[in-house]
Amino acid sequence: MDKIVEISGLSKAYTQGHEQILVLENLDFSISKGEFISIVGPSGSGKSTFLNIIGLLDDVYSGEIKLFGKRLEDLDEAEKAVLRLRNIGFVFQFDSLLPEFTVLENIEMPARVLGGSVPGSGLDLLKRFGLEVIAHKFPMEISGGEKQRAAMLRALRNTPALLIADEPTGNLDRHNSGIILDDLKRAAAAGTAVLMVTHNEEAARRADRMLRMAGGRLEKLGAV
Ligand SMILES: Nc1ncnc2c1ncn2[C@@H]1O[C@H](COP(=O)(O)OP(=O)(O)OP(=O)(O)O)[C@@H](O)[C@H]1O
Ligand SMILES: [Mg+2]
Repeated sequence: MDKIVEISGLSKAYTQGHEQILVLENLDFSISKGEFISIVGPSGSGKSTFLNIIGLLDDVYSGEIKLFGKRLEDLDEAEKAVLRLRNIGFVFQFDSLLPEFTVLENIEMPARVLGGSVPGSGLDLLKRFGLEVIAHKFPMEISGGEKQRAAMLRALRNTPALLIADEPTGNLDRHNSGIILDDLKRAAAAGTAVLMVTHNEEAARRADRMLRMAGGRLEKLGAV
């Protein structure tokens, strides 16, 4: 199987005053192409910290991380920036659409930033996910569930090899959570590795593999 992320011995500490707080401790992890993994765990256990490191939003840690077979320590900032834009989609827990742009413009943003010709189009993506009716609306004119889905399509715009989603169903009702999970499943079926953090066990069970963050490590939760 093609490994998208391989991590060994990852540790991360935050400094608070004079104290060092160890959040991740000697953690191992891997995810393959097309795999859908969910992570649960108590608030403050380090889930977002972990996602931010994999998503190249935080580079203060120790241990080895390989993304798409490349060791992160061998890459410079520019190479990492390109890797992030081309290969990683990130869905944040809280609404992150730019309010002054339409849904379609928001979704096109990652392709624009890359410049040149990125295959596909935001409109096709909206159609594929049955959302073309909101293409020309502004974020303030759509529902919370639609915002989350639009943010997810934006993360999928450049057909990333890895989609990272931090609580994508937080604040959504059961119906809308179900729709988001269907979307994530569909992205995984198309070959994207999907890594999702959630507090919702029912949502977590929809993944191929379910892990729990505890004591700074990821442990396996029974077969799902
Ligand atoms: N920038 C920071 N500086 C210092 N401590 C931090 C920082 N960010 C997070 N922490 C601490 O690290 C720990 C892990 O935080 P993290 O945000 O990763 O938790 P989480 O598992 O995502 O929690 P939640 O489920 O509430 O989102 C917490 O104790 C938090 O207070
Ligand atoms: Mg978090």
